[in-house]
Amino acid sequence: MKMIAQLPGVKLFKIDAVKKYSSDYTVCTKEAQKEFRAHARPELTKYPDSIDEYDTMILGYPNYWGTMPMPVFTFLEKFDFSNKTVLPLCTHEGSGMGHSENDIKELCPKADVRKGLAIYGSAVNHAGSDIKRWLENQGV
Ligand SMILES: Cc1cc2nc3c(=O)[nH]c(=O)nc-3n(C[C@H](O)[C@H](O)[C@H](O)COP(=O)(O)O)c2cc1C
Repeated sequence: MKMIAQLPGVKLFKIDAVKKYSSDYTVCTKEAQKEFRAHARPELTKYPDSIDEYDTMILGYPNYWGTMPMPVFTFLEKFDFSNKTVLPLCTHEGSGMGHSENDIKELCPKADVRKGLAIYGSAVNHAGSDIKRWLENQGV
């Protein structure tokens, strides 16, 4: 994420839920599963005032239960991403993108949602060149 934030023209916004997940991995998986099953839209601590000035969003998230953590759903529903380009960038531990790309397309039906890049969480610190190549291939 730091590497992306350093690219020219990139502004970083962190999607941050009011209710934090537990730092205990097992408890966290249960909390996130409950939200997923309930189709929850957890409240966020803040939102950008507007997304009008942006054409492209690199949407980074960990794969939780085969898709994005539910706070990311909250974020995507809050704004109109029509005519914007969305680049999904997902960390995971085996499931790749899961069904997150389809979920993004459903939440942002008029956006140009590109094929995402899935990176093993454990390999994230060595993924710089893959991310660079992926971004170059998007032509953005
Ligand atoms: C609640 C929860 C659910 C997860 N579900 C999946 C999953 O369905 N598939 C998968 O490959 N990894 C899953 N993982 C592993 C995360 O994707 C992995 O920990 C993450 O990408 C690494 O980023 P982090 O260091 O920010 O957690 C899950 C992790 C958590 C905490």
